[in-house]
Amino acid sequence: MKKALITGGNSGIGYQAVKQLAEKGWQVTMLCRRKEAAERACQEIIQQTGHPHVSYLLADLADMESIRQAVSRYRQEQQTLDVLINNAADFDLSVKEPIITKDGLEKQFATNVAAPFLLSQLLRDLLEQSEDGRILNISSQGLMLYPFLKLDFDNLKGQKHYSPAQTYYQNKLALLMLSLYLRRQWTAIKIQAVRVTNVKVDMRRYAHLKVLARKLYKIKSKFSISPEQMARVYTMLATEDGYEGFLYNEKCREVKANSFAYQEAEQEKLCELLEQLTSK
Ligand SMILES: NC(=O)c1ccc[n+]([C@@H]2O[C@H](COP(=O)([O-])OP(=O)(O)OC[C@H]3O[C@@H](n4cnc5c(N)ncnc54)[C@H](OP(=O)(O)O)[C@@H]3O)[C@@H](O)[C@H]2O)c1
Repeated sequence: MKKALITGGNSGIGYQAVKQLAEKGWQVTMLCRRKEAAERACQEIIQQTGHPHVSYLLADLADMESIRQAVSRYRQEQQTLDVLINNAADFDLSVKEPIITKDGLEKQFATNVAAPFLLSQLLRDLLEQSEDGRILNISSQGLMLYPFLKLDFDNLKGQKHYSPAQTYYQNKLALLMLSLYLRRQWTAIKIQAVRVTNVKVDMRRYAHLKVLARKLYKIKSKFSISPEQMARVYTMLATEDGYEGFLYNEKCREVKANSFAYQEAEQEKLCELLEQLTSK
């Protein structure tokens, strides 16, 4: 049985991807931070698909030690891995100041960039041992609104200025950069990215936001595709052959990333920094 590990499988696109992979007979492990949500998602998916090989491990992706412990448990339980999907993301419009984690990282950067990097590093050997090891990193179509965006290495902790939205796009750019870097370096693993378009969100997740922000999310949802539709791209890239490009949109067509993402010296600088920041 082929095996996938996906972060944030208890909600949205990740949830639908778990379901689709289960329908294809894959063993899927979700990496989630909330036990109750993970358990509920697992039970629902097992019930809906009739496929019992869906499980979860708990990890807070903003905490590097928690990731290390979860990977260690994964290795004990599963021994092999074919696809890692770095799907989870931290984007909370109600946060006004940078939150610094116990690792000394800004929380969004930790979850959206450092966690995918560390997971890839810790699982690299298993993915290389797979006949067809793959990593999928999830980016955002919103980056298209900022075609000249550069990664600001001097603001990775929000020390100059902070907004959750700006930080999120900086993170998604960084994720593309590290994906391109690892894709060149780790040739035994197919490393690709998905450019997620507007996807309907579960409004219950935004109950804590101010009225205006909630209204904007509702309007956005009217012009959005379903999580199920978007998850099909994850599933195709994870399970099918014939997609050799780097970045894919919601129609599973190859698209270009922001030009800054391709700058090799900047990619290398980022990955060297991530190695320092995520080492014990
Ligand atoms: N929806 C869109 O319109 C859209 C657009 C562009 C890009 N994307 C990207 O698509 C991906 C999936 O988005 P979505 O809308 O499906 O997301 P979602 O429904 O908001 O789910 C996010 C998932 O990430 C998990 N997560 C967040 N922080 C975590 C942490 N520290 N540790 C562990 N898990 C954590 C959440 O867990 P909890 O349930 O515990 O919070 C949840 O399972 C993300 O990478 C997002 O950036 C989405």
